[in-house]
Amino acid sequence: MSKIRNIVILTGAGISAESGIDTFRAGANGGPSLWEQHRVEDVATPEGFARDPELVLRFYDRRRAAIQTKEPNPAHFALAQLDAEWAGELLIVTQNVDDLHERAGARRVLHMHGEHLTAWCSSCDVRSPLTASLIERPPCPVCAARTLRPDVVWFGEMPYRMDEIYAALRTCDLFVSIGTSGAVYPAAGFVQNAVELGTETLELNLERSQGSGMFHETRLGPASALVPQWVEEMLA
Ligand code: APR
Repeated sequence: MSKIRNIVILTGAGISAESGIDTFRAGANGGPSLWEQHRVEDVATPEGFARDPELVLRFYDRRRAAIQTKEPNPAHFALAQLDAEWAGELLIVTQNVDDLHERAGARRVLHMHGEHLTAWCSSCDVRSPLTASLIERPPCPVCAARTLRPDVVWFGEMPYRMDEIYAALRTCDLFVSIGTSGAVYPAAGFVQNAVELGTETLELNLERSQGSGMFHETRLGPASALVPQWVEEMLA
């Protein structure tokens, strides 16, 4: 660990679980993906949105409202401390669409699956801040079209900023995965990329994930305990 200079950290729903935000999959190897009793195809695909926009907008409105009542937990704060104090390159690639990394103070954060707190206009392609709801179809603050949608990457859509992520993976010395089931690609494939490049890999998760076999080391437990402990080791 003493030779580590550049770090890529992948986070998933597990890091926000102790803040009271639901994860997506039940059980270690990902049981059926049921979100608040909805099928994923209904609320997290472009086809589902075209079929029933009201259902989808209401679903994300509820989740957007919910995250604003939650607070970062010790795992978010520990990563923010690492971000502030780590002299080498560091990138927190999160699959989460909440803003708890930022609210804990982290700066080097990349939201590969989008964000609840921005809306994306499908007319002018501009993203704008959003805290309220979309169900009333508010006008886009830029072009005034009533074509705002959640700025969340759905199944069948390309995650954001993949070039930046792969560039960081190529030059990192340590890849750490925190609180993700390893069920959804391309994020689930990052550990394999890292291993093939000879990069050290560490997983911190509540239970064994679909990718656990690939990591050099897996530590099992709640993120609020494991992440602060690991950050302390890194900064020692
Ligand atoms: N501490 C650490 N890990 C935890 C905790 C905790 N307190 N609670 C749960 N976990 C682990 C679970 O054991 C599980 O392996 O977090 C993981 C959460 O997995 P998922 O619910 O599948 O979430 P994630 O991996 O982030 O999902 C990836 O799938 O549906 C899409 O776009 C969505 O970004 C999401 C992507």
